[in-house]
Amino acid sequence: MPGKHFLQFTDFSRDEYEHLFVRSRVLKDRLRRGELYQPLQGKTLAMIFEKSSTRTRVSFEAGMNQLGGHAMFLASKDTQLGRGEPIEDVARVIGRMCDVVMLRTYEQTIVDTFASYSKAPVINGLTNEYHPCQTLADIFTYIEHRGSIEGKTVAWIGDSNNISRTWLQAARIFNFKLRLACPKGYEMSVLDGIDYRDHFEQTHDPREATEGADLVSTDVCVSMGFERESLQRRVDFLSYKVTGELMKLADKDAVFMHCLPAHRGEEVDPDVLDGPQSIVWDEAENRMHTQKALIEYLLLGKIDS
Ligand code: CP
Ligand code: NVA
Repeated sequence: MPGKHFLQFTDFSRDEYEHLFVRSRVLKDRLRRGELYQPLQGKTLAMIFEKSSTRTRVSFEAGMNQLGGHAMFLASKDTQLGRGEPIEDVARVIGRMCDVVMLRTYEQTIVDTFASYSKAPVINGLTNEYHPCQTLADIFTYIEHRGSIEGKTVAWIGDSNNISRTWLQAARIFNFKLRLACPKGYEMSVLDGIDYRDHFEQTHDPREATEGADLVSTDVCVSMGFERESLQRRVDFLSYKVTGELMKLADKDAVFMHCLPAHRGEEVDPDVLDGPQSIVWDEAENRMHTQKALIEYLLLGKIDS
């Protein structure tokens, strides 16, 4: 949909997500068959990173290349942004030269400001508050393995961070329940005045959150930008680890997901991350397929499959 941005999960409707999932499937199958599909020849994706990345950078760059376009990696510290050029000015300039922009940064207000000054569509590639591209891939991956996520229970063990907050936004759109277990003092705060009561439960007990869940997920306890809290967090999150024993409380068909990078032995035990219920590698791969569908939609609108 030309003119649209993807800054938070709530920016798109259920219908738009259903379309993206259909297209992700088509694009994934085409790639597997070795078919070339290059509708974005001559188009450029600018990728601005203010934080580190493996998956986001590689999935966007490889995906844009597969679509026939070019992806440009910009580490903010090596651009004038790192020397204090206002984000508004950078957005005006890059938005005139590039066709689509992905920004990974700190506060959500930075990506929101960028989008309001950019002529090109802007994609949130992770902020302190949200990671919508991750949740897009996560839900596609769950559907691929288990079918519809509607009416299911997602157990989140750990921090109320950008990933779990985006899961909560998705819970309302896809009508599932998010059960979050976090230490005292790390609870999810009220979100933009939206009433999530039917889609959200919060506890301090990982066992209570996991009981009968269809999907169990976790993430690092120290997200990028929160390194100063590292020592305290490592102590506070000690009993918020996904273990084999915890997984036994979930539904027998439950899957385990993690956005990665993971720290084996910290937030998840190796036998879970590398075990039979884990679908983390498909989850990571699907970042590329779903983002290809996203870029196609932002630049070309709905394509009939
Ligand atoms: N999951 C994710 O966004 O990974 P990267 O930080 O490696 O991009
Ligand atoms: N919550 C993590 C996710 C990394 C992909 C972070 O923000 O560092």
